[in-house]
Amino acid sequence: MKHLRSKNAIGTAIGISALVTVLSASPVAAAPDGKEVFDRNCSVCHSIMPPPKSAPPIVPIASRYRQQFASKEKGIARMVSFLKSPSKEKVLADPQAVTRFGLMPPLQLSNAELTAVAGWVWDQGTAGGMGRGAGAGRGQGNGGCIQK
Ligand code: HEC
Repeated sequence: MKHLRSKNAIGTAIGISALVTVLSASPVAAAPDGKEVFDRNCSVCHSIMPPPKSAPPIVPIASRYRQQFASKEKGIARMVSFLKSPSKEKVLADPQAVTRFGLMPPLQLSNAELTAVAGWVWDQGTAGGMGRGAGAGRGQGNGGCIQK
């Protein structure tokens, strides 16, 4: 019995390390995945839903962007501009957050990564109380038409 148990433990350990290997081997060539960029670069500070970590949660921010911009492209363009060089003047979602959390630091990410993550953030928002826009508009496109 004892024997069987330790064997299982080893099996689990191997399983976990295999899983970790798979997860960390991210595809390089393809367009970046917004959720992945978020997990790696943003989730330290931003939770998706309240309660906040050290920055405002993503869903309320995204909803605010959706209220301000009729089109996803415009919202993304504005968000990317903020992410590249955050400033008080560019803060759109929550001016009080700057007082509460301090200004967000600029991130060293490529345009493609910023566009992908901004698109993902946008998709987390609710449009005018119509519920989570989870189904529609999920695709990331290639970002080609967004760089203005
Ligand atoms: C070191 C912590 C930190 C990291 C990492 C971080 N943020 Fe932020 N972010 C903040 C803080 C603090 C604020 C609120 C103050 C402000 O707006 O500058 C903020 C605000 C924002 C806003 C709101 C801007 C607005 O117009 O009001 C967006 C959108 C955002 N972050 C997206 C991201 C994304 C996407 C990433 C990852 C690519 C990211 N953040 C990484 C701390 C962080």
